[in-house]
Amino acid sequence: MKKKLVALTGAGISAESGISTFRDSNGLWEKYRVEDVATPEGFAANPALVLDFYNQRRRQLYTCEPNQGHRGLAALEKEFDVQIITQNVDNLHERAGSTRVLHLHGELTKACPVDNPSAVYDIPPGVDLSLGDTDPRGVQLRPFIVWFGEAVPMIAPAIEEVEKADILVVIGTSLHVYPAAGLLHYAPNGRPVFLIDPKEVATGRRDILFIRAGASEGVKQLTQRLKTFG
Ligand code: OAD
Repeated sequence: MKKKLVALTGAGISAESGISTFRDSNGLWEKYRVEDVATPEGFAANPALVLDFYNQRRRQLYTCEPNQGHRGLAALEKEFDVQIITQNVDNLHERAGSTRVLHLHGELTKACPVDNPSAVYDIPPGVDLSLGDTDPRGVQLRPFIVWFGEAVPMIAPAIEEVEKADILVVIGTSLHVYPAAGLLHYAPNGRPVFLIDPKEVATGRRDILFIRAGASEGVKQLTQRLKTFG
Protein backbone atom coordinates (compact mmCIF):
# COMPACT_ATOMS: atom_id res chain seq x y z
CA MET A 1 0.00 0.00 0.00
CA LYS A 2 1.18 3.51 -0.78
CA LYS A 3 2.21 5.74 2.12
CA LYS A 4 -0.04 8.73 2.80
CA LEU A 5 1.55 12.10 2.07
CA VAL A 6 -0.41 15.19 3.11
CA ALA A 7 0.72 18.55 1.70
CA LEU A 8 -0.49 21.74 3.39
CA THR A 9 0.06 24.59 0.95
CA GLY A 10 -0.22 28.38 1.06
CA ALA A 11 0.23 31.36 -1.19
CA GLY A 12 3.98 30.70 -1.61
CA ILE A 13 3.41 27.64 -3.79
CA SER A 14 1.66 29.84 -6.36
CA ALA A 15 4.17 32.73 -6.17
CA GLU A 16 6.28 31.36 -9.03
CA SER A 17 3.10 31.22 -11.14
CA GLY A 18 2.81 35.00 -10.76
CA ILE A 19 0.18 35.15 -8.00
CA SER A 20 1.07 37.53 -5.16
CA THR A 21 1.39 36.19 -1.64
CA PHE A 22 -0.34 38.08 1.19
CA ARG A 23 2.31 38.99 3.73
CA ASP A 24 5.60 39.26 1.79
CA SER A 25 6.77 42.76 0.81
CA ASN A 26 4.57 43.80 -2.10
CA GLY A 27 2.01 41.23 -0.93
CA LEU A 28 -1.73 41.72 -1.35
CA TRP A 29 -2.25 42.90 2.23
CA GLU A 30 0.07 45.87 1.57
CA LYS A 31 -2.22 47.03 -1.24
CA TYR A 32 -5.63 46.26 0.29
CA ARG A 33 -7.04 46.34 3.81
CA VAL A 34 -8.12 42.88 4.99
CA GLU A 35 -11.17 44.46 6.67
CA ASP A 36 -12.30 45.97 3.36
CA VAL A 37 -12.04 42.94 1.07
CA ALA A 38 -11.87 39.81 3.19
CA THR A 39 -14.52 40.15 5.90
CA PRO A 40 -18.33 39.88 5.89
CA GLU A 41 -18.43 43.44 7.28
CA GLY A 42 -16.38 44.70 4.33
CA PHE A 43 -18.77 43.00 1.91
CA ALA A 44 -21.80 44.51 3.70
CA ALA A 45 -20.22 47.98 3.58
CA ASN A 46 -19.09 47.93 -0.07
CA PRO A 47 -20.10 44.79 -1.99
CA ALA A 48 -19.06 46.25 -5.36
CA LEU A 49 -15.48 46.77 -4.13
CA VAL A 50 -15.28 43.22 -2.79
CA LEU A 51 -16.76 41.68 -5.95
CA ASP A 52 -14.28 43.69 -8.01
CA PHE A 53 -11.33 42.50 -5.86
CA TYR A 54 -12.20 38.84 -6.45
CA ASN A 55 -13.14 39.42 -10.12
CA GLN A 56 -9.64 40.83 -10.68
CA ARG A 57 -8.04 37.87 -8.95
CA ARG A 58 -10.17 35.38 -10.92
CA ARG A 59 -9.27 37.07 -14.21
CA GLN A 60 -5.58 36.96 -13.26
CA LEU A 61 -5.85 33.27 -12.41
CA TYR A 62 -6.80 32.46 -16.00
CA THR A 63 -3.54 34.07 -17.16
CA CYS A 64 -1.41 31.92 -14.80
CA GLU A 65 -0.11 28.39 -15.15
CA PRO A 66 0.82 25.82 -12.50
CA ASN A 67 4.57 25.75 -11.73
CA GLN A 68 6.97 22.88 -11.04
CA GLY A 69 5.94 22.95 -7.37
CA HIS A 70 2.31 22.13 -8.20
CA ARG A 71 3.38 19.69 -10.91
CA GLY A 72 5.92 17.96 -8.67
CA LEU A 73 3.25 17.33 -6.01
CA ALA A 74 0.92 15.91 -8.67
CA ALA A 75 3.73 13.62 -9.88
CA LEU A 76 4.21 12.26 -6.35
CA GLU A 77 0.82 10.51 -6.73
CA LYS A 78 2.73 7.76 -8.59
CA GLU A 79 4.50 6.71 -5.38
CA PHE A 80 2.30 8.14 -2.62
CA ASP A 81 -1.33 8.50 -1.66
CA VAL A 82 -1.24 12.33 -1.85
CA GLN A 83 -3.82 14.58 -0.23
CA ILE A 84 -3.42 18.32 -0.83
CA ILE A 85 -4.86 20.68 1.77
CA THR A 86 -4.57 24.20 0.44
CA GLN A 87 -5.30 27.63 1.86
CA ASN A 88 -5.18 28.94 -1.69
CA VAL A 89 -8.31 29.92 -3.57
CA ASP A 90 -6.68 29.37 -6.99
CA ASN A 91 -7.10 26.12 -8.95
CA LEU A 92 -3.45 25.53 -9.85
CA HIS A 93 -3.15 22.23 -7.93
CA GLU A 94 -6.09 20.80 -9.90
CA ARG A 95 -4.71 22.14 -13.17
CA ALA A 96 -1.33 20.52 -12.40
CA GLY A 97 -3.08 17.15 -12.10
CA SER A 98 -3.53 16.64 -8.35
CA THR A 99 -6.64 14.52 -7.88
CA ARG A 100 -7.37 15.10 -4.16
CA VAL A 101 -7.43 18.79 -3.26
CA LEU A 102 -9.19 20.13 -0.20
CA HIS A 103 -9.68 23.92 -0.19
CA LEU A 104 -9.77 25.37 3.33
CA HIS A 105 -10.51 28.98 2.31
CA GLY A 106 -12.82 28.48 -0.66
CA GLU A 107 -12.35 28.75 -4.41
CA LEU A 108 -12.12 31.77 -6.70
CA THR A 109 -14.03 30.04 -9.50
CA LYS A 110 -17.11 29.44 -7.34
CA ALA A 111 -19.92 31.50 -5.83
CA CYS A 112 -22.56 30.93 -3.17
CA PRO A 113 -25.68 32.82 -2.08
CA VAL A 114 -25.06 35.27 0.77
CA ASP A 115 -27.34 33.27 3.07
CA ASN A 116 -25.97 29.76 2.40
CA PRO A 117 -22.25 28.97 2.06
CA SER A 118 -22.96 25.33 1.28
CA ALA A 119 -24.90 25.99 -1.97
CA VAL A 120 -22.00 26.32 -4.39
CA TYR A 121 -22.16 27.40 -8.04
CA ASP A 122 -19.37 27.37 -10.64
CA ILE A 123 -18.52 30.73 -12.18
CA PRO A 124 -17.84 30.01 -15.87
CA PRO A 125 -14.41 31.11 -17.22
CA GLY A 126 -14.41 34.71 -18.39
CA VAL A 127 -17.46 35.66 -16.33
CA ASP A 128 -17.36 38.25 -13.52
CA LEU A 129 -19.57 38.10 -10.44
CA SER A 130 -21.72 41.26 -10.22
CA LEU A 131 -24.33 42.88 -8.03
CA GLY A 132 -27.67 41.52 -9.24
CA ASP A 133 -26.30 38.00 -9.94
CA THR A 134 -28.55 35.77 -7.87
CA ASP A 135 -29.33 32.13 -7.19
CA PRO A 136 -32.67 30.73 -8.46
CA ARG A 137 -34.40 32.13 -5.35
CA GLY A 138 -33.23 35.65 -6.16
CA VAL A 139 -30.62 35.79 -3.37
CA GLN A 140 -27.42 37.71 -4.23
CA LEU A 141 -24.37 35.58 -4.96
CA ARG A 142 -21.01 36.27 -3.28
CA PRO A 143 -17.54 34.84 -3.81
CA PHE A 144 -17.15 31.32 -2.36
CA ILE A 145 -14.32 32.49 -0.11
CA VAL A 146 -13.94 31.98 3.63
CA TRP A 147 -13.49 35.49 5.00
CA PHE A 148 -11.89 36.42 8.31
CA GLY A 149 -14.38 35.92 11.11
CA GLU A 150 -16.23 33.14 9.26
CA ALA A 151 -16.35 29.43 10.03
CA VAL A 152 -13.90 27.13 8.22
CA PRO A 153 -16.09 24.07 7.56
CA MET A 154 -13.32 22.10 5.83
CA ILE A 155 -11.04 22.18 8.87
CA ALA A 156 -12.59 19.01 10.36
CA PRO A 157 -11.93 16.80 7.29
CA ALA A 158 -8.48 18.44 7.00
CA ILE A 159 -7.60 17.44 10.58
CA GLU A 160 -8.68 13.85 9.86
CA GLU A 161 -6.36 13.74 6.85
CA VAL A 162 -3.36 15.15 8.76
CA GLU A 163 -3.92 12.67 11.60
CA LYS A 164 -3.55 9.81 9.12
CA ALA A 165 -0.44 11.22 7.41
CA ASP A 166 2.70 9.12 7.14
CA ILE A 167 4.49 12.23 5.84
CA LEU A 168 3.42 15.87 6.19
CA VAL A 169 4.77 18.54 3.85
CA VAL A 170 4.13 22.25 4.46
CA ILE A 171 4.83 24.58 1.53
CA GLY A 172 4.71 28.36 1.17
CA THR A 173 2.64 29.42 4.14
CA SER A 174 3.61 31.90 6.86
CA LEU A 175 1.40 29.91 9.29
CA HIS A 176 -0.14 33.17 10.51
CA VAL A 177 -3.77 32.23 9.92
CA TYR A 178 -5.71 29.84 12.15
CA PRO A 179 -7.20 27.28 12.17
CA ALA A 180 -5.09 26.28 9.12
CA ALA A 181 -1.79 26.93 10.92
CA GLY A 182 -2.82 24.60 13.75
CA LEU A 183 -3.01 21.61 11.37
CA LEU A 184 0.73 21.08 11.81
CA HIS A 185 0.12 19.93 15.35
CA TYR A 186 -2.11 17.04 14.31
CA ALA A 187 0.71 15.25 12.50
CA PRO A 188 1.39 11.99 14.33
CA ASN A 189 4.58 12.05 16.44
CA GLY A 190 7.55 10.41 14.85
CA ARG A 191 6.37 10.96 11.28
CA PRO A 192 8.49 13.26 9.11
CA VAL A 193 7.31 16.86 8.69
CA PHE A 194 9.00 18.73 5.82
CA LEU A 195 8.68 22.49 5.41
CA ILE A 196 9.54 24.20 2.11
CA ASP A 197 9.90 27.98 2.21
CA PRO A 198 12.62 30.41 1.13
CA LYS A 199 12.25 32.18 4.51
CA GLU A 200 12.36 31.04 8.11
CA VAL A 201 8.87 30.05 9.35
CA ALA A 202 8.09 29.65 13.06
CA THR A 203 6.28 26.34 13.62
CA GLY A 204 6.45 25.63 17.34
CA ARG A 205 7.74 22.13 16.47
CA ARG A 206 11.34 21.00 16.86
CA ASP A 207 11.31 18.07 14.47
CA ILE A 208 10.81 20.01 11.23
CA LEU A 209 12.90 19.03 8.19
CA PHE A 210 13.41 22.44 6.58
CA ILE A 211 14.01 22.76 2.88
CA ARG A 212 14.97 26.40 2.49
CA ALA A 213 14.00 26.99 -1.15
CA GLY A 214 11.23 28.24 -3.40
CA ALA A 215 8.42 25.83 -4.22
CA SER A 216 9.72 24.49 -7.57
CA GLU A 217 13.24 23.78 -6.32
CA GLY A 218 11.93 22.69 -2.92
CA VAL A 219 9.52 20.07 -4.30
CA LYS A 220 12.35 18.76 -6.51
CA GLN A 221 14.58 18.32 -3.45
CA LEU A 222 11.69 16.81 -1.48
CA THR A 223 11.06 14.25 -4.23
CA GLN A 224 14.71 13.17 -4.01
CA ARG A 225 14.62 12.90 -0.22
CA LEU A 226 11.35 10.94 -0.31
CA LYS A 227 12.97 8.15 -2.31
CA THR A 228 14.04 6.70 1.06
CA PHE A 229 10.47 6.94 2.48
CA GLY A 230 8.48 5.38 -0.41
P1 OAD B 1 1.41 34.39 3.34
O1 OAD B 1 1.51 35.50 2.35
O2 OAD B 1 1.09 34.75 4.75
O3 OAD B 1 2.75 33.55 3.36
C1 OAD B 1 3.38 33.17 2.17
C2 OAD B 1 4.58 32.29 2.48
O4 OAD B 1 5.11 31.87 1.23
C3 OAD B 1 5.71 33.01 3.24
O5 OAD B 1 6.20 32.17 4.28
C4 OAD B 1 6.77 33.20 2.15
O6 OAD B 1 8.12 33.17 2.65
C5 OAD B 1 6.51 32.00 1.27
N1 OAD B 1 7.00 32.12 -0.12
C6 OAD B 1 7.22 33.24 -0.88
N2 OAD B 1 7.67 32.92 -2.10
C7 OAD B 1 7.73 31.57 -2.15
C8 OAD B 1 8.11 30.62 -3.16
N3 OAD B 1 8.53 31.01 -4.36
N4 OAD B 1 8.04 29.29 -2.83
C9 OAD B 1 7.63 28.88 -1.61
N5 OAD B 1 7.25 29.74 -0.64
C10 OAD B 1 7.31 31.06 -0.89
O7 OAD B 1 0.32 33.36 2.73
P2 OAD B 1 -0.51 32.22 3.45
O8 OAD B 1 0.23 31.66 4.62
O9 OAD B 1 -0.98 31.29 2.41
O10 OAD B 1 -6.71 33.85 3.64
O11 OAD B 1 -1.74 33.04 4.00
C11 OAD B 1 -2.77 32.36 4.68
C12 OAD B 1 -4.10 33.04 4.46
O12 OAD B 1 -3.99 34.43 4.75
C13 OAD B 1 -4.56 33.03 3.01
O13 OAD B 1 -5.22 31.83 2.66
C14 OAD B 1 -5.49 34.20 2.94
C15 OAD B 1 -4.65 35.19 3.72
O14 OAD B 1 -5.30 36.23 4.33
C16 OAD B 1 -7.87 34.43 3.28
O15 OAD B 1 -7.95 35.28 2.42
C17 OAD B 1 -9.04 33.93 4.08
